[in-house]
Amino acid sequence: MSRQVRIVEVGPRDGLQNEKQTIDTGIKLELIERLAKAGLRDIEAASFVSPKWVPQMADHAAIMAGLPSRETYPDVNYPVLTPNMKGFEAAAAAGAKEVAVFAAASESFSQKNINCSIAESIERFVPVFEAARQQGIRVRGYISCVVACPYEGAVSPEKVAEVAARLLELGSYEISLGDTIGAGTPASVLRMLEAVARKVPVQQLAGHYHDTYGMAVANAYASYQFGLRSFDSSVAGLGGCPYAKGATGNVATEDLVYLFNGLGVETGIDLDALVECSAWISGVLQRAPGSRVSRALLAK
Ligand code: HMG
Ligand code: MG
Repeated sequence: MSRQVRIVEVGPRDGLQNEKQTIDTGIKLELIERLAKAGLRDIEAASFVSPKWVPQMADHAAIMAGLPSRETYPDVNYPVLTPNMKGFEAAAAAGAKEVAVFAAASESFSQKNINCSIAESIERFVPVFEAARQQGIRVRGYISCVVACPYEGAVSPEKVAEVAARLLELGSYEISLGDTIGAGTPASVLRMLEAVARKVPVQQLAGHYHDTYGMAVANAYASYQFGLRSFDSSVAGLGGCPYAKGATGNVATEDLVYLFNGLGVETGIDLDALVECSAWISGVLQRAPGSRVSRALLAK
């Protein structure tokens, strides 16, 4: 059966970027391979950002060199984050076929996260889109703080729509809408989606919901009903953003798969293999999985 929703696994990037202990490249590569084995077909592998800003992602080139073999997993896509041309050039040299640029809908978060204004960030993305087009590399656009900002509070849906329209115009094949601090509820997420969908076709939107307040599954379900068919998540609910204090990980991939299984919506993911992967990485990090579904299934 073909996939009816696309789940973009961001655990190896969004999930691990905030870990204080340095995680071996070999562990990260094993995580990626286990995720591919569980059926994930979009696995965000690394960030080509400054190692001074995010030391955990400093091994990006080694990650790209050690990805699972194309023969075993011919159809897996490994996007990486690139904030500027320096990151793009390094990612392209490392063999990336898809990159993601990341903007924010809040000025303060943009400054804290990438050290420039929203407008300046877009200017930096223009040559990235141009070079990517020339080299046949796909670009995904992220927007952070689509509901609320850790520094400014509530964010206007119109501002999110404005940034989304610009990222679409520049050539993003999809715009991923990040509730960075997980403050959204179905009501605030739907208000945001209604504004964005007036500027960007719903088929080109993805939901990227962090689970700080336990609302991420509800937000994904509301977004699914609104028409979204692409969602970001991280195995075991790993993660947090180094520039969004107190924010927890993304919605757990297991929780999304369980939701969609219950709806009879095909994800292409083997829940048992995913739970096994969740238990393994949680063991490595010496904590219980942040996924309610994994905890329930592992307790059986
Ligand atoms: P800057 O300091 O303003 O950069 O940082 P700069 O251009 O002035 O350069 C300063 C130094 O950084 C120079 O090195 C550059 O070469 C180097 P030096 O001369 O001092 O030795 N540099 C780089 N090195 C490696 N890769 C690069 C790169 N660019 C410059 N690409 C910069 C600006 C954007 C680089 C920095 O702020 C940065 O790396 N920020 C990344 C922050 C980050 O990764 N945040 C987490 C990801 S976003 C997220 O999690 C949200 C998301 O999940 C959605 C959601 O949930 O909302 C996507
Ligand atoms: Mg995130």
